[in-house]
Amino acid sequence: MPQDTKILSVADKRKLAQQLLSQRKAQAIKNMEEVELPDYTRYTYDMFMFGSSPEPSEIEHFDDWVQATLDDHTYTFEVPRLQAQLPENDIYRASNEKIHVVNLSSYNYLGYGYHPEVIAAAKAALDVYGLGAASSPVASGTFGLHKELEQRLVEFFGLPGRGVSLFSSGYGVNSGTISAYMKQGGHIVMDRSAHMSILEGAQLSKCTPHYFRHNDVDHLEEILKGISQAGETRVLVCVEGVYSADGDYSKVGRIVEVAKRYGAKILVDEAHSMLLVGPHGRGVCAEQGVLEEIDLLVMTFSKAFGGVGGALFAPRKTTQYINWYAKCRMFSCALDPAVTGGILKSLELASGADGDERRQRLHVNAEFLRNQLRGQVNIGTSESWIVPVIYGPEKYTLPLSDFVQRSGLDTSVMQFPAVGKNESRMRLFVTSEHTTEQLRRAAEIILCAAEKYKFALNHQ
Ligand SMILES: Cc1ncc(COP(=O)(O)O)c(C=O)c1O
Repeated sequence: MPQDTKILSVADKRKLAQQLLSQRKAQAIKNMEEVELPDYTRYTYDMFMFGSSPEPSEIEHFDDWVQATLDDHTYTFEVPRLQAQLPENDIYRASNEKIHVVNLSSYNYLGYGYHPEVIAAAKAALDVYGLGAASSPVASGTFGLHKELEQRLVEFFGLPGRGVSLFSSGYGVNSGTISAYMKQGGHIVMDRSAHMSILEGAQLSKCTPHYFRHNDVDHLEEILKGISQAGETRVLVCVEGVYSADGDYSKVGRIVEVAKRYGAKILVDEAHSMLLVGPHGRGVCAEQGVLEEIDLLVMTFSKAFGGVGGALFAPRKTTQYINWYAKCRMFSCALDPAVTGGILKSLELASGADGDERRQRLHVNAEFLRNQLRGQVNIGTSESWIVPVIYGPEKYTLPLSDFVQRSGLDTSVMQFPAVGKNESRMRLFVTSEHTTEQLRRAAEIILCAAEKYKFALNHQ
């Protein structure tokens, strides 16, 4: 850093940080070019996405690619496990190899996915209600248990006049809500790092999409100003609470202030922050004091709740409308009973002393892991329990994740189109249940991989 950093303006500091980051990225790509790779690593996800021939030849080409990676024993996706998402796990690779791993690949952040009381509650619900809801929630698929969960969530947030819409997937909450709430002619302004379910909701709505630079409130304002100058229309700003790709917190307090100034509505997806931060785990919006001002608050049950499904928390008249007009809710089966019973128990535990204890452990664990890696590999802007290790080009994904798995660590790989090209990363999801020894072991494996694949920062 130059000696005169202190007298730089905020904008200059940001510019400088961006310059340093892109220099690092360019250097990392150059370093990696020196590693020898098999031919199939040249292919990227988008190459098999399109096709216009009468026969769907892209399916054949994709199969060729999968077969080549299987033959080379580097296919690390859809690897079965025969246990719950525990902090350590056995995974079974296609070649029938059993590998013991530290599991930093699941977002079972508080360990409720296998908590004995949660499992007992799920079993009890299964006994009463059976396996499936066997109907759309608007028709005959709503059970007493669903109503109880809605009520408990409203009490959890403690805001009058609010309601809850339950969905059978978190993905559906975003895609269904956005496409029902926003109509053709409107504008949807999304953070560049927003999740695919938000992007797809925007596509389905037929509104004009806009993207602002990640967490850049000034850029958001510029876009909102441009839209407002073109006349009055409905505008929705979409952000996440904690970003699933970057592991940083949304500047939601300032974003709400700007959005409201331009008359825009705001959706916050707290998939990776609900139950994990804020008073009694009420999330980032509650922590930043803007919960009441959020028009559409999204949560998933697949992360800290340890189950599956999701919910919209919004003014009651809005959730009532969404219940009917979100197509993936209206035309799909209701949340399954056992999971609903389990989620009720997770919510009860998480909002009390058990949750406070687990959150405390989670935050300590996350900081420990970040400290093990910071300055040695690129962990981007992470400040939470999601720690991305950004290695860059897509072609390293398979050999690298194969090496890491075989060394005893399971991670969640993310690459284009989930993130930009040359921004591929292994995400490490820390949980409250990991021990320091497991996290230290995981960090050692990452640092060893960084040396082998030349993305350690000291290579630059
Ligand atoms: C930010 C975000 N929103 C929504 C979803 C979709 O949630 P679900 O997996 O529960 O469908 C995810 C999934 O990982 C996510 O990361």
